[in-house]
Amino acid sequence: MKDQAEKLRSMVNNKKDNSRSSKFRVITVSSGKGGVGKTNLVVNLAISFQKRGLRVAILDADFGMANVDILLGVKANYSIYDLLFDDKTIEDIEVDTPYGIKLFAGGRGFKEFDEIDDEKRNKLLGEFSKVSDIDILIIDTGAGISPNVIRFIEYADEVIIVTNEEPTALTDAYSLIKVINKNNIDKNLDIVINMASNLVNAMRTFTTLKNISKKFLNIDINFLGYLIKDNKVRNSVIKQKPFIELYPNSEIALCIQKISNSIIGNTEKVSNNSITGFFNNLFKAIRR
Ligand SMILES: Nc1ncnc2c1ncn2[C@@H]1O[C@H](COP(=O)(O)OP(=O)(O)O)[C@@H](O)[C@H]1O
Ligand SMILES: [Mg+2]
Repeated sequence: MKDQAEKLRSMVNNKKDNSRSSKFRVITVSSGKGGVGKTNLVVNLAISFQKRGLRVAILDADFGMANVDILLGVKANYSIYDLLFDDKTIEDIEVDTPYGIKLFAGGRGFKEFDEIDDEKRNKLLGEFSKVSDIDILIIDTGAGISPNVIRFIEYADEVIIVTNEEPTALTDAYSLIKVINKNNIDKNLDIVINMASNLVNAMRTFTTLKNISKKFLNIDINFLGYLIKDNKVRNSVIKQKPFIELYPNSEIALCIQKISNSIIGNTEKVSNNSITGFFNNLFKAIRR
C-alpha cells in the first residue's frame, strides 16, 4: 500500500506535467558566521533568476531570526511556524513580493525543526505538495552548525557557503565544511566571497579556505563568485529594496549576474524532482 508521502509525490509529479520545467532545484545558502551577507545574496540571486524567467521561491529557514521579509520590504503575517503550530495553510503563509518571487517566511522565535512530530511533518509535506509552480527554491539557513542547517545542506542540489576575508568568518566557514564532511555529506561546496575589494583579493581569500580544506579534510571546494564591498548594500537594506533592483547597472549587481550565470549553466546538479520529494528526504534524515 502506498504511504501518504508516496501519494503526495505522485500527485506532485502529475501536476508538474503541465509546468514549464520538469526539474525542480534546491539551493541552500549557508555560512559559518552570521552577518557575512547570506540573506542579501539569497534575495538578489532570487531576483536575478526570476529575471531569467525562472519561477523562484525563498524559504527563510533562519528560524528564530528570519529577516528575508524585511529585506524584501514585505509583511509576512504568518510563517512556517504558524503552518506547523497553528492551523495555517501554505496559501496563508505564502507571501507574494513586488519582484515576482515567492517567500515562505521563517518566523521569529522558532524552536528547532527537529522537534516536529509525524503529524506535523505530514502537514508540511501535504501543504508543500500544493506548490508545484516553482523551478528554484532558495533556502536561507541560519549561521552556524545546527542539525537543521546540515539537513538543508544534505538535501540541496547546490550548496553555497558565504564568507568574507575576516579570519573569524573564514574559521567558521572551515568549521562548517568540517561538519559537512563529518556527516559524510558528499556535495560540491560552492564558495562565495563577500565584501571583497576585487576579484584578486576574493581569489586570495578563497585560496586560503581551499588550501586548509584540502590539507586537513581532503575536500575540494569550488569558487562560485564574489561580491564587492559596497555601501549600496547597506543603503538597499535601509530602503528595504534589493540592490539588484535599486542599482541594476552597478558592479555589485554584475557580481550577482555572474554567480547566477554559473549556477544556471550548471544543470547536472539537479536531483530533487519535486518540492515534496525534497521535504520528504529532509524529514527522513531528521528522523533517523
Ligand atoms: N557586499 C557588501 N558590501 C557592504 N556591506 C555588506 C555587503 N554584504 C553585506 N553587507 C552588510 O552586512 C549586513 C549583513 O548582511 P546579511 O545579508 O543580513 O548577512 P547574514 O544573512 O549572513 O547574517 C548587511 O545589512 C549589510 O550592511
Ligand atoms: Mg541572514
